[in-house]
Amino acid sequence: MTAAVGGTRWVPMTEGHNSIGRASREAFERSQKVFVDGTTRVTIERDPIPRYVARGEGAYLVDLDGRRLLDLNGNFTTLIHGHGFAPVIEAVTRQLRSGTCFANPTLAEIDLAELICGRVPGAETIRFVNTGSEAVMFAIKAARAFTGRSSIAKIEGAYHGAYDWVEVSQASMPDNWGPEDDPARVPYYRGMPASVLDEVVPLRFNDAEQAERRIAEHAERLAAIVLDPMPSRAGLIAPHPEFVAAIQRAAARHGIVLIADEVLNFRQGYQGASARHGLTPDLFTFGKIIGGGLPIGAIAGRREVMNVFDASGGRPLLPQGGTFSANPLSMVAGLASMNALDHAAFDHLEALGDRLRDRLTGAIAKHRAPFSVSGAASLFRIHPKPALPRDFREATPNAAEAGVMKELTRAFTDAGIALPYGAAACLSTPMTTGDVDLVASVFDDFLTTRGDLIGSLAA
Ligand SMILES: Cc1ncc(COP(=O)(O)O)c(C=O)c1O
Repeated sequence: MTAAVGGTRWVPMTEGHNSIGRASREAFERSQKVFVDGTTRVTIERDPIPRYVARGEGAYLVDLDGRRLLDLNGNFTTLIHGHGFAPVIEAVTRQLRSGTCFANPTLAEIDLAELICGRVPGAETIRFVNTGSEAVMFAIKAARAFTGRSSIAKIEGAYHGAYDWVEVSQASMPDNWGPEDDPARVPYYRGMPASVLDEVVPLRFNDAEQAERRIAEHAERLAAIVLDPMPSRAGLIAPHPEFVAAIQRAAARHGIVLIADEVLNFRQGYQGASARHGLTPDLFTFGKIIGGGLPIGAIAGRREVMNVFDASGGRPLLPQGGTFSANPLSMVAGLASMNALDHAAFDHLEALGDRLRDRLTGAIAKHRAPFSVSGAASLFRIHPKPALPRDFREATPNAAEAGVMKELTRAFTDAGIALPYGAAACLSTPMTTGDVDLVASVFDDFLTTRGDLIGSLAA
């Protein structure tokens, strides 16, 4: 029996996947009294009870009931060195003794800025904030202040955080996404202002012709094109070189600021994702890995555009501040984490990722199963689709496919592996070939033993 509490469905202790232990169940009982849905982030996975974590240990997380899982989520791809990375612990411990935040700049922010600007071609100057969402918000505002225009173009289905304009068409569905050649502006929440919807031009990923055409049609009002080079929720699909070139050309031709959102994909290499995929944006947004596990975001790019933040001569074109921006804890944690991400670390992650994707696709071929695998470097995503999707629409699972993915996630959980569902899964530097081979063998077992279920996909 379930009861409605204040309009919310109450999940009783007995429900849920059998790998969720008593301590998580008790925690969820408590939390349902203080959080409307029992959690305080919409992105928390639940089945229907979430797993509460006691601690992380390298590549593993340990839940309240003592269950250890290989962590392929890494707090949504943040923890590139896994949990409890010694250099981060040392740096943060040292910093804690000297102070956690000041209304003054510190040397730590210069150190991290020098590291990032020294690595990323085109990141001439940088500004720190607290989250990826905030970075995207300020990058868009910077583009507006620079161009004097207000609208943006973005990729249908791409996730860029919690700023209204980038939330448009973030979760379009087949019943509302409209024609392929003119994707609908779909509100993300009830009451989203119509004026926001009017200021967003959704584009299909990897459709070069459409991108150039639609950008040209709306050019006079477009301040920015926001592009994640490999949008995770839109499929984690590699950008076609023609698409990258078309976006680049259109931005240059019409004087639109090109923003590469690398909050997630900066982990694709020493210089990040844009360099890897041949994109040269005006601005970048960063987050996740550059904070070493503490909250962070950053906007970087061409000095001419970044000058909108310049307050040295009085009020800048775009005033930007924040109580906790560039707080020294995030700065020193980020520096320790990034310093350890040398070429050898990226080579290790690249080799692990290649090995895993090879083995997963090998298992698919062996079983002639209707699955495909996308990703690059330390990122991968399994699709319940026989042909590799080319964009968000193709990557969106139907009901049967979503059901199969849920069972796959459960099978991974049963085998002691936390696999994120419907988004990018990631590897971390403490992982070994043994770990990725285990992931591949659990997938192979699933394909071997769940033919009945998988058959529903082909039907
Ligand atoms: C590409 C991208 N942009 C922006 C964000 C928002 O970052 P945050 O959750 O730190 O606000 C995310 C978060 O997953 C992201 O993946």
